[in-house]
Amino acid sequence: MCGIVGYIGKKDATPILLSSLKRLEYRGYDSCGVGVVAQKDGKIHSKKTQGKIQGLTDILKDKPMPTGFVGISHTRWATHGKPTKANAHPHADKTGKILIVHNGIIENYQEIKEALKAKGYPFVSETDSEVIAHLISSLDKGDLLEAVQKAIQKLNGSFALGVISSDHPDKLIAARLGSPLIIGVGCNENFIASDVPAILDRTRKIVYLRDGEVAELQKSSLKIFDFKGKQIKPKVHTVAFKLDAVQKEGFSHFMLKEIHEQPKVLSGMLSSRIKNKKVHLEGLSLTDKQLKGINHVFVVACGTAYHAGLVGKYVIEQLAGVPVSIDVSSEFRYRTPIINKKTLIVAVSQSGETADTLAAVREAKLKGCKVISICNVVGSSLARESHGVLYTHAGPEIGVASTKAYTAQLCMMYLLGLKLGVLKKKISKGRSESLIKDLKRVPSFLMMILKSKAKIRKIARANSHFGCFLFLGRNINFPSALEGALKLKEISYIPAEGYAAGEMKHGPIALIDEYRAVVCVTPEADTYEKMISNMQEIRARKGKIIAIATEGDTAIKQHANNIIYIPSTNKLLTPLVVALPLQLIAYYIAVERGNDVDQPRNLAKSVTVE
Ligand code: G6P
Repeated sequence: MCGIVGYIGKKDATPILLSSLKRLEYRGYDSCGVGVVAQKDGKIHSKKTQGKIQGLTDILKDKPMPTGFVGISHTRWATHGKPTKANAHPHADKTGKILIVHNGIIENYQEIKEALKAKGYPFVSETDSEVIAHLISSLDKGDLLEAVQKAIQKLNGSFALGVISSDHPDKLIAARLGSPLIIGVGCNENFIASDVPAILDRTRKIVYLRDGEVAELQKSSLKIFDFKGKQIKPKVHTVAFKLDAVQKEGFSHFMLKEIHEQPKVLSGMLSSRIKNKKVHLEGLSLTDKQLKGINHVFVVACGTAYHAGLVGKYVIEQLAGVPVSIDVSSEFRYRTPIINKKTLIVAVSQSGETADTLAAVREAKLKGCKVISICNVVGSSLARESHGVLYTHAGPEIGVASTKAYTAQLCMMYLLGLKLGVLKKKISKGRSESLIKDLKRVPSFLMMILKSKAKIRKIARANSHFGCFLFLGRNINFPSALEGALKLKEISYIPAEGYAAGEMKHGPIALIDEYRAVVCVTPEADTYEKMISNMQEIRARKGKIIAIATEGDTAIKQHANNIIYIPSTNKLLTPLVVALPLQLIAYYIAVERGNDVDQPRNLAKSVTVE
């Protein structure tokens, strides 16, 4: 999704904006731009281009931007209008004095555009965002903050905004409604950005702008107001994670680095959440009595987080005996889910900014449900809007294809299942302790798999030419198959389907021939024999099989063309272990095909629009 960075201070804005904007590349974008108020002539100057930030940097090498101490920049992920230079941000008003960058969607832009056109405002782009520049201009009576405040009253939809004006070179205005925006507080300089990593090398002091707030930044002051103009005291947080967390540190891609971080993330989570052999879920903000009263869990999530939720359904139902429903967030909000005060909503999201998940949570709160979130980004909208939050603390995830956030979400599902199971007396103390012991061994299993990555790479390379993949799993590893297929299609662009193996005969078997590869998630399981039958059916039709099986399973050799072994673990915990080889298969196939692994085409890390 779009990325915003703004700067005001004593240094030349453009180099700062470009290097910070580069740190937002992971969000996904197709065009970019930068604009400043120039010191030499007091005028607005801007440059935009279709394509990558490197292209913009090259343009600026030929024709440098004049020095300016205030500026805004943007990466655009096209919604309204193609990814062209004209549609790229910043957008200017007709006088060329006001420049804006916008993330979000203005739903009533057509109506505003017609009204402004009738008054003689010319439009040069197809975007919804351009109306904002003209609207502010039409309301500007000499006070930029006031003009922005008046303009946003007229906007429907969602926005994070950065605004500068040549009439006010000492000000940078920011506003937020439904799209993420943070403020970085520096020494004689201040920043705005869509996400913390953008400005982490400049400052660790962050103010999370909330929905319905407008900020006026000057080089050494920050004022925040609500949309009605009432001033609010900014709450400054100091971000804990280090700059290393947002650098590749010798890995060829962020995705590979994040895959390698999983043992550390899981052991960190387990050591902080398990004390005296008991699960402690600080942040849950529900009393044991309230938890015991829950008779239905409803998970809402999108993408990879949805798959973590699906595993959670198997885990919580098995450990706690509570029925678990699950919807992708975009479906939940537009149907009539049966929920009430005894339903616990569990919203799962890495970013905590996914528009559909946020909308689902708001819907559920209106119906009186308690909402907890499993979330990675501290201070995100979801974390703030939930009654309780279980942070996964996996560190910033930069690769668009989610890896460490997924296994961290899975781990949290096991902990939540254990907590509920013990409280509801569905599992004994002994079973809980033994599962905790098994959970604690998972990080070392992941390390072992990482040690065999050369073999996984070889298998991935040997299969990278297949034009279509099927991923099969059963029971608790059905979601693993879905996630394996999602990872592969996200970064390799190879059509890949995830299926419950039992459903194979009801359709996907028609795909099988010698040109298809099938990844069978086949660890030790009660359904193991059934998986073997499926594999035989695939072999009989000449399909090529990559099996993920448990170390020591020699019998599988006669059924699979390639085998990736995982250490033997508790059957319930296998999704945590099989995730890693599935991620590596996708990663190495995408690398082999020469794809941009960290920024796959058309995808965005955080989907902040519907
Ligand atoms: C996008 C990302 C996925 C992610 C999904 C949900 O589609 O590309 O990797 O799983 O959003 O994001 P969330 O931040 O809510 O987990």
